Amino acid sequence: MKREIVLLPGDGIGQEIMESAKSVLNTVAANFGHQFIFHEHAIGGTAIDQYQTPLPETTIKACKGSDAVLLGAVGGEKWDSLPGDQRPEKGLLGIRKALDLFANLRPIKGFAPLLHASPLKQEIIEGSDILIIRELTGGLYFGEPKSRVENGNAAVDTLYYSRQEMERIIDKSFQTAQKRRKKLTSVDKANVLESSRLWREIVEEKSKSYPDVEVNHLLVDAAAMKLITQPNQFDVIVTENLFGDILSDEASVLTGSLGMLPSASIRTDGVGLYEPVHGSAPDIAGLGIANPLGMILSTALMLRQSFDMQEEADEIEKAVQETLDQGYHTPDLSIKDGIKVGTKEMTDTVIGNLSSNSVSNCICNSYA
Ligand code: NAD
Ligand code: IPM
Ligand code: MN
Repeated sequence: MKREIVLLPGDGIGQEIMESAKSVLNTVAANFGHQFIFHEHAIGGTAIDQYQTPLPETTIKACKGSDAVLLGAVGGEKWDSLPGDQRPEKGLLGIRKALDLFANLRPIKGFAPLLHASPLKQEIIEGSDILIIRELTGGLYFGEPKSRVENGNAAVDTLYYSRQEMERIIDKSFQTAQKRRKKLTSVDKANVLESSRLWREIVEEKSKSYPDVEVNHLLVDAAAMKLITQPNQFDVIVTENLFGDILSDEASVLTGSLGMLPSASIRTDGVGLYEPVHGSAPDIAGLGIANPLGMILSTALMLRQSFDMQEEADEIEKAVQETLDQGYHTPDLSIKDGIKVGTKEMTDTVIGNLSSNSVSNCICNSYA
């Protein structure tokens, strides 16, 4: 199968982990007889430096014409003093909006060898398998007005959601819960926010169309607490943009590191943008020690969701599992024993495990 993939490495460790994604995909392509054609484009601070904008038109056009997009991360101190609408982060928000990627899926599932890498007690996190579905193109991130007012002595951001924007993400969440353990937790702040009260009403209305899904509502402050005290109570969590951003970084603690989490940003057709949940990690950029697994697992999500390549995605996830089982880990995972390696060695080990999986497949096939 031939697929055109736009690569947006971005800034900081984004550049380093994109190399890992490319190597993994090249190996999968060779093993399965696919052709993945990469088109690299600028976004974020790197784009500001080259084109004086965080999201050049050429990048938007390339993404719109591609089969899927992979993104590393954007942002860094160098661009922190720029006005809000010119910052690297604006490039990421802009591409999500331009592609109408309203549903951000953030799976949080621990790997057994990393259970003790979490600061949480093992018995608390054991068995947890959560999918956070974050609304990605509305809410406080995009509502207007958004500006300084009163001669710069006050500031306003606007939390706006239309019924249609709420309905599509809530429908998506019910449908996703139907394919999992059929439990949906809707997280809001309905005791204070009008937008949350409309959100809750719509969840109740929609639940009538999905009678097989058990729904409950949680206020976001309580949800933040329960996420790390009773994580295995959750299956699918659906929430608005900002709450989803914060809760997913918190939930990453269950897995041992923010560097472990992949994500898929999708709409109703197969087009999607895939990126790790973490940022550009300026504190470790250039040191060659970034954890590439969130990025590598994002490539698996891409193969699964955008290309319907289930076997290929399984192979990547199995190779990551094997790598961790063998004791390999990057320094962000605070594990005493095991084999501490950098980004490249971690990636090469995953690739080694990939190849051996596929080689064994080939041998099986030739004797079949
Ligand atoms: P961050 O996610 O970049 O880093 C938080 C902490 O986690 C840091 O200590 C970092 O070293 C560590 N970390 C993150 N990813 C890691 C990995 N793969 N391997 C090892 N350690 C990892 O968040 P931040 O420091 O708050 O933000 C830095 C910049 O990134 C900011 O400019 C921010 O706007 C941007 N950001 C971008 C994205 C994105 O592009 N999707 C997401 C979050 C933050
Ligand atoms: C994320 C990031 C972004 C967000 C920033 C960099 C705009 O934190 O992808 O989680 O808030 O959505
Ligand atoms: Mn975030």
